[in-house]
Amino acid sequence: MPARSIAARAINAATTRRGFLTATGRAAATSSLVALAGSSPAVHAAGSDEIRVALIGCGGRGGGAVADALTVPGANIKLVAMADLFPEAISTCRRSLGEQFKERADVPQERCFVGINAYKQAIDCLRPGDIAISATPVGFRAAHFAYAVEKGVHAFLEKPISIDGASTKRIIELAAKADAKNLKVGVGLMCRHSEARRELFDRLQNGEAGDLIAFHGYREHGPVQPLDLYPGPPAGVSELFWQAQRFHGFLWASGGVFSDFYVHHVDEVCWMKNAWPVKVEAIGGRHFRGKLDDQNFDSYGVEWTFDDGTKFFYSGRTMKDCEQKFAVFGQGSKGLFTISARGHAPAKSTIYKSQKLDKDNILWTAEQPEKNPYRLEWEHLVAAILSGERYNEAVRGAQASLATAMGRFAAHTGRTVTYAEMLDSPDDLTAGVAELTDDSPAPLQRGADGLYPVPMPGRSKYEFRS
Ligand SMILES: NC(=O)c1ccc[n+]([C@@H]2O[C@H](COP(=O)([O-])OP(=O)(O)OC[C@H]3O[C@@H](n4cnc5c(N)ncnc54)[C@H](O)[C@@H]3O)[C@@H](O)[C@H]2O)c1
Repeated sequence: MPARSIAARAINAATTRRGFLTATGRAAATSSLVALAGSSPAVHAAGSDEIRVALIGCGGRGGGAVADALTVPGANIKLVAMADLFPEAISTCRRSLGEQFKERADVPQERCFVGINAYKQAIDCLRPGDIAISATPVGFRAAHFAYAVEKGVHAFLEKPISIDGASTKRIIELAAKADAKNLKVGVGLMCRHSEARRELFDRLQNGEAGDLIAFHGYREHGPVQPLDLYPGPPAGVSELFWQAQRFHGFLWASGGVFSDFYVHHVDEVCWMKNAWPVKVEAIGGRHFRGKLDDQNFDSYGVEWTFDDGTKFFYSGRTMKDCEQKFAVFGQGSKGLFTISARGHAPAKSTIYKSQKLDKDNILWTAEQPEKNPYRLEWEHLVAAILSGERYNEAVRGAQASLATAMGRFAAHTGRTVTYAEMLDSPDDLTAGVAELTDDSPAPLQRGADGLYPVPMPGRSKYEFRS
């Protein structure tokens, strides 16, 4: 299917007013659905009301996703298996979840699996109708999703879910296979589940801010890990495992900080605009250099363009000790609006009476306190599993990931990139990742100078290689 029609189909499915109302109704109905399902043994594919969960990638977000799953009101959910590259990651996560959820997160040692293919053993502990959570770096996402679909289990895929055209196509193909098996797929773009943003979307569609003309967003903060990778892997840790652990630094593993950090904001804007961008121009560079630089720039300036000419301007900065900013705004012909004011939650979505961002100028602002969107995304996924209704966020998540990757690619190559070009780009950053074993060489090798190849705008056709 041509890129544009794939784009149009998913955006509309996700964001029409009917879609919004359905989703809102679903949120409101979650508790009653769960209660209903508890008394109906037929609702779960495996014939039991217990839903088992396997966690792949036992880091910060993986543990958080399990906690969100186990907190869905009224649902009978249990963590039964865990997989990671590092046994210490499993121990820490297992201890913390065990303290919080007792026997519902009491995973025995024999169901804790270590290694790059440990995900298969963890998923093998599930029955059809259970849920596999992939919360590793995105580089492994398609492999995990493929095995979950093969085994007939539902999937929760952390964002981003693709990093280039090839991985986007893989996810879209897998999404179709998941649909064919009536599997439910949640994607960790939790902002889509925020009730404040859903109300904002509805109000924008009703014309409360007028025609949507421009968007501007910012994600500016210090590095989550040093951008200087010197001195490299510690003793006893392979280059492959280390690159997977330090995933923000390697494009094959994460799509870099660009894909990993900015996908939420790109997704929010495309949702509100009700379209995917058709092209992007971007600049970027690295001011602070280390002894062993990773593959990121430390600053990016991006301009996405939608088909009707609307622009989305974005600033990304990953530098220490600079001013911090984490917000997205839009401008309508009648007034400015805030999509999210500071961080992801609470969104504090607001529409202003004019272009002035001023407390005295508010037309509408989201009711506070807001429900936690990380919890809501799980309530919606589990409600769909229990009710059997179609629920698959993978295509939309892949499109948001592709729209994000376009910006990174444009900055790293120094060229304007269209959505269709990005989807069809032959550079496959995760080629061969599904076949890796614990002893494989890392996908990225250092050059003769002992350094990792880094993006060179104007020189490299595909970010860091020709
Ligand atoms: N939705 C959100 O707001 C949100 C927030 C944070 C992170 N995330 C996403 O979650 C993912 C993980 O981020 P994190 O912050 O938890 O990182 P993390 O480093 O805390 O955890 C990642 C874990 O995955 C493990 N891992 C790496 N490769 C693996 C593999 N092939 N098989 C099994 N385990 C593997 C690592 O050892 C590590 O324990 C990323 O994609 C990130 O973008 C989403």
